[in-house]
Amino acid sequence: MRVLVLGSGGREHALARALHRDPTVTALHCAPGNPGTAEIADNHQLDPCDPTAVTELAERLRAELVVIGPEAVLVAGVGDALRTRGIPCFGPDRAAARIEASKAFAKEIMAAAGVPTAEARVCDTDAQVEEALDAFGPPYVVKDDGLAAGKGVVVTDDRGAAARHASACERVVIEEFLDGPEVSLFALCDGQHAVPLLPAQDFKRAYDGDEGPNTGGMGAYTPLPWVSPDLVDEVMATVVQPAVDEMRRREIPYVGTLYAGLALTSKGVRVVEFNARFGDPETQVVLDRLATPLATLLQACAIGGLDPEFRPEWHPGSAVTVVVAAEGYPSAPVKGDEITGLDEAAAVDGAYILHAGTKLGGEGRLVANGGRVLNVVGTGPDLAAARATAYAAVSKISLRGSHHRSDIALKAADDVVPG
Ligand code: AMP
Ligand code: GLY
Repeated sequence: MRVLVLGSGGREHALARALHRDPTVTALHCAPGNPGTAEIADNHQLDPCDPTAVTELAERLRAELVVIGPEAVLVAGVGDALRTRGIPCFGPDRAAARIEASKAFAKEIMAAAGVPTAEARVCDTDAQVEEALDAFGPPYVVKDDGLAAGKGVVVTDDRGAAARHASACERVVIEEFLDGPEVSLFALCDGQHAVPLLPAQDFKRAYDGDEGPNTGGMGAYTPLPWVSPDLVDEVMATVVQPAVDEMRRREIPYVGTLYAGLALTSKGVRVVEFNARFGDPETQVVLDRLATPLATLLQACAIGGLDPEFRPEWHPGSAVTVVVAAEGYPSAPVKGDEITGLDEAAAVDGAYILHAGTKLGGEGRLVANGGRVLNVVGTGPDLAAARATAYAAVSKISLRGSHHRSDIALKAADDVVPG
């Protein structure tokens, strides 16, 4: 199978790595990819959000599967363009990607499908905002209705801050605060049926102890020893399948990853958000454990005919990824500094490096080119071993001013239910 992956981050490197392991994959391409994907695939320099450029490349490569990584590519209508040309594409059309791109639309789907989520109000005016803040009380949860790369959500006890965030946005969703730990579950969907992957947990705040600003994600691990083995079946029955059915009923069939961001609250499972793509960095650990060939699975979603009874196979053991972030991330990441020590890091037994925001500078030097620069993955028989491996590898890497969290998977490895 000839496969093209769109995107350039750590998630796409992880996708490429898993596709590379699938013996049915005879040619692997990335656009634009990064220096990490260049080691296992052919990189093509183009704007992945340009539907015409992507379609031309996919046709020239005679791609039998295009896998879309980032939400911006989905929202740009690249999936629509590929499907119009009959090219199998894993990733929803623009209309279906609204389940991520519009919080209000996601709430509408959840309400229609009976999916458990936080009670919410869509507010267009200051008066509506004030009324909603009164109704729900603190802690206040105010979400920009549009795509904001995970940074449009403010959770605060400070009513003034909540109101200021709302007035800085055109339209917001204000909702009930959900207590309890969060879980990310990815379901692979073919428009009709869905198959779950392993649940994972990510760490959204920049600093240890869940302090500091929200980020795209500073680390992740799987499996989650503290969740009930029944959780996945429950979420498939009460969240994923009802949402897929509702999208199909509206004639916007959902093909791709439906990412359910869940809160395990004192009142039961609630959806915090839907995303229309694989999570980053959770994908890095989930795909590490996947034993089932990935390309075959994604192609079954893209062309239809996914067996709803099918369950992927998983390698035993655990995976932990630690994000090495550039100085100033998330507000103002510094680019261009040299990264060294990658060979030493990759030589740590059970560890490997995924590139997230890197590029080749002059004289073959690898330099930082984004906020989240590297994802260091550690594997082992259990979470404690996997995290020790990941951190041993992180310690070999040098990047001036870089920072990382030192508590990824710490509580779970100690058998403590996280926050
Ligand atoms: P979202 O972009 O909707 O995932 O929100 C980003 C983060 O804000 C989530 O991962 C949660 O940590 C937090 N958050 C969002 N909605 C709620 C809520 N209703 N209650 C508590 N925390 C929330
Ligand atoms: N790790 C969170 C996300 O991908 O949205």
